[in-house]
Amino acid sequence: MYDVIIVGGGVIGNSIAFHLSKRHYHVLVIEKDTIGQKASGAAAGMLGAQNEVGADSPLSSLARQSRAMFPPLAEELKSLSGIDIELIHSGIIRLARTEEEAKQLKQAADRQQNSGEDAEWLSREQLKEKEPNLSADSMAGALYMPYDGQVNARLLTKALAHSAVKLGADILEHTEVQDFLTENNRITGVRTTTGTILANSVVTAGGAWSRDLLKKTDLALDVYPVKGECFSVYHDEHLMTSSIFSPGCYVVPKSGGRFIIGATQKPDSLDDSVRLDGLHSLIKRAIGLISELRNAKWEKAWTGHRPQTKNGLPYMGEHPDINGLWVAAGHFRNGILLAPITGSLMADYIEGKPVNDTFRLQQLSHKEVNL
Ligand code: FAD
Ligand code: GLY
Repeated sequence: MYDVIIVGGGVIGNSIAFHLSKRHYHVLVIEKDTIGQKASGAAAGMLGAQNEVGADSPLSSLARQSRAMFPPLAEELKSLSGIDIELIHSGIIRLARTEEEAKQLKQAADRQQNSGEDAEWLSREQLKEKEPNLSADSMAGALYMPYDGQVNARLLTKALAHSAVKLGADILEHTEVQDFLTENNRITGVRTTTGTILANSVVTAGGAWSRDLLKKTDLALDVYPVKGECFSVYHDEHLMTSSIFSPGCYVVPKSGGRFIIGATQKPDSLDDSVRLDGLHSLIKRAIGLISELRNAKWEKAWTGHRPQTKNGLPYMGEHPDINGLWVAAGHFRNGILLAPITGSLMADYIEGKPVNDTFRLQQLSHKEVNL
């Protein structure tokens, strides 16, 4: 009998497991594949609290708090698991290709500065000075966000899982949760491909697959997959310091001369294949940004499925009809960034701690909508 079962061994499930284990809950993570093989293993690892989340978004405060949690988390995970999550504070540069984009990014810089963030508009000349390998002549300038760092997403997920285990959690891989067990509208456990397992609480953190699972409880969760294709290369030279972000293509410099280039966006697709049209468009755009990338050595390509929701906000809350059944899903493009705050917030919910209402992003309230 567990205190909490977590369905899904991605970054969200493992972050919740880590936070609950720190608070002495006996936790089991159940994963149908292996830990971190889905979206969380596919991610580029950018912590785009400013780049990806607008200052006026309801997610903005959460995103910034989560980004601030990374430095102490990286140390804690290192000491518990021995895994270095490769946290780097080298900023994200968002490029403006036209004067219109430049105008919008200058306004974004003003908004970010007004809300206390460090954000700097770079002219074409300043951009060239900062990142000499960028093809800056075709750019109208860029927005530089120095605190939007990055991590190794795969290692973050692994480190959270290993640290949770170190603190007493169990992990069950290659096991699919097929249904929930309830008694008098209260969760009692789950039915899996290898038998039933009992718990006082259950959290569904199944990423893009959460909708199918929650259908069993008549809850119409509007989470859907957005397929993303990425590839990675090696180059002997130091081509850039910051992550470079432009519509349709980003380049993230990793350790050891590795670069991740992403990512396509194909809604409603759970297809796992990498298609040449997606790769072709990414390669063309990446070389357009940094021409020296044409001499990079190929490593590999992959896909992942971002869990998106209709209004773009993740679900974090309790099931409206089943006490003790929780949901944490729908983090779309920012699940790596939002993993620390989601883990801590979900642990607060489950503990029954008073939680600031601005964090209750989207309560689960709709039932039996046409699926
Ligand atoms: P997943 O990682 O998909 O984990 C869900 C897990 O649940 C899966 O392992 C699945 O097998 C398991 N599962 C589902 N149903 C069941 C069941 N019934 N029984 C047992 N197990 C089950 N975010 C950022 O912050 N920064 C980035 O730079 C970034 N880049 C990205 C690039 C790409 C190409 C993609 C695809 C995503 C990117 N993201 C990024 C988004 C981020 O990866 C996701 O938001 C995040 O990984 C979602 O985590 P998750 O744990 O909810 O989902
Ligand atoms: N956040 C980057 C991506 O989802 O591709």
